[in-house]
Amino acid sequence: PAFTDYQAESAAVSQGVVESNHAGYTGTGFVNYDNVIGSYVQFTVSVPAAGMYPLALRYANGTTVDRPMDITVNGAPAAPGVSFPGTGGWPTWVDRTVTASLTAGTNTIRAAATTSNGGPNLDRLRVTAPSDGQPPSA
Ligand code: GCU
Repeated sequence: PAFTDYQAESAAVSQGVVESNHAGYTGTGFVNYDNVIGSYVQFTVSVPAAGMYPLALRYANGTTVDRPMDITVNGAPAAPGVSFPGTGGWPTWVDRTVTASLTAGTNTIRAAATTSNGGPNLDRLRVTAPSDGQPPSA
């Protein structure tokens, strides 16, 4: 496939809760990060080959204040301080895409809040095939 989706409500969550009270999510819900530094969602992603993969985090932020997060891959910084600005409302979901190096096989991708507001509400991670045409999942 051209991409593979990983639902936040199926990922590992530290300091957050799965909810479904704001419309527009995919799957069965989304993760509401606790409003603390360090709250995170961690996805386990499998790809067939090493490469630079676009990672689209679908989120909502109903406030007017940015909720930055550090994106780490296999425990190492991949995209620090990624901005997740307000989307206009909690039911308004948008993709925030970063590109990161993944290794062949299993990778852990963590999105961790860096401010006391916690992260935005997180719906899913979409891993897209790299531009060289490698499929994102076996
Ligand atoms: C509201 C909203 C939640 C959101 C929270 C927050 O309570 O309903 O979905 O997560 O604000 O500010 O983090």
